[in-house]
Amino acid sequence: MRSIRPKTLALPLFLCIGSLAAEPSLKDTYKDKFLIGAALNPSYYANETSPRSQLVKTQFSSITPENVMKWEPIHPKPGQYRFEAADRFLDFGVKNGMFVVGHTLVWHQQTPKWVFEDEKGAPLTRDGLLERMREHIHTLVGRYKGRIKGWDVVNEALNENGTLRDSPWKKIIGDDFVQKAFEYAHEADPTAELYYNDYRLEVPAKRDGAVALVKKIKAAGVPVTGIGIQEHVTPVWPASNDLEASITAFGQLGLKVMITELDVDMLPGSKKFGDADISRREAADPAFNPYPKELPPEEQQKLARRYAELFGIYLKHRGTITRVTLWGINDGESWLNNFPIPGRVNHPLLFDRALHPKPAFGAVIDAASR
Ligand code: GLA
Repeated sequence: MRSIRPKTLALPLFLCIGSLAAEPSLKDTYKDKFLIGAALNPSYYANETSPRSQLVKTQFSSITPENVMKWEPIHPKPGQYRFEAADRFLDFGVKNGMFVVGHTLVWHQQTPKWVFEDEKGAPLTRDGLLERMREHIHTLVGRYKGRIKGWDVVNEALNENGTLRDSPWKKIIGDDFVQKAFEYAHEADPTAELYYNDYRLEVPAKRDGAVALVKKIKAAGVPVTGIGIQEHVTPVWPASNDLEASITAFGQLGLKVMITELDVDMLPGSKKFGDADISRREAADPAFNPYPKELPPEEQQKLARRYAELFGIYLKHRGTITRVTLWGINDGESWLNNFPIPGRVNHPLLFDRALHPKPAFGAVIDAASR
C-alpha cells in the first residue's frame, strides 16, 4: 500500500514502501486523545488476513457495523433473528481489542413494517409495541452483553426544530419511547454505554431539542452516557462555532460526546447539508457529478484542509469527545455515492478506491501534533 508522510497538507508526498506496518497509524497517533473508529461492511472482517482487515487493525481502535445490527437484517420477521453477520463482526472487534459499538436499536428507518403492526396488519397498541421493543433490545443487548461496549440506543428521533419526529415509534408509544428504549437497554446490560445519535445536531434548534430530550430522560432516573453527533458534513457546513457550541452544550450535561458517522460530501447539488435522512432524493444532473474519475488535486487539498479543521476542533474538546468514527473506510463504498442522488462518484473519506491513504489522511495525522 502506498504511504503518505505527515506534513502533506501543502504538498502531498506519496512514498511507495509497500508495508502497512510503516504507515502512520490513526489509532496510535490519537491513542492518548480519543478512539478512532470506522463503520465496517462485512468485506472488512470476512477474512482476517486480507489487506482490508489488516488496514482496519492497523488504523482503527473502534468499529461500528454499517448495517448488520439494524433491525431489518438482524430481526427480519417476528421471532426470527439472524445473528451470523453480527456475531462475525463482533468476534473480529473483540479479538483485535477494539471498542465495539452497536448500531442501532430503535430507528424509524431500516425497520420492517411488521414491527408496528399486529397479525392483522392493524397498528399495534402502545403496550404491544413497548413489549416488542423490549424483547428486541433485551435479545440484542443481552446476547452481546459485556462485549459491545456502547450502543446507539435511539437514532434520529428529532426534527430539525427540536421536536420529536412523528415516527411510528412516537405515534404508537408516545413521547416517552426514547426513555423506554434507554431503560430497556440499561436493564439488559447495566455496564454498556448508551447513546442518543442524530444528524444536524449542530443546528441550534435541534441541539436544544437534544439537550431537552436527554435532560428529561436523566431526570426520570434513566441513564444516558453520551450523544453521537453523526457529522455528515461538507467543506463548508457546519460552521466551526455551531459544531463547538453543540459539543460544549452536550458536554455540560455531563455527557460524553462522539463523532459517530464522519464523512465530507465533496459533490455539489446537495440542498440540505448534513441531512442524512436516507429517504431523501435529489434530481440527477451531470453538473452534480463533476469528479467521475478522481478528485482533482485542489479538491484533495480542500478535503484535507476540512479534515484538519474538524480534527482541530475535536482535539480542542478532547476529554469531552471520546471517539471519532468515520462512516466507512474507502470512497468507493461510501453511501454518499448514492445519496441523495444515486450513481455519482464521491470522495468523502480518508482512503481512496484502491485503499490508498489520501492527503486528508496525512492531514488528520498532522493535526494531532499541531
Ligand atoms: C444514518 C444512519 C446510518 C447510515 C447512514 C447512511 O446516518 O445512522 O446507519 O444508514 O445514515 O448510510
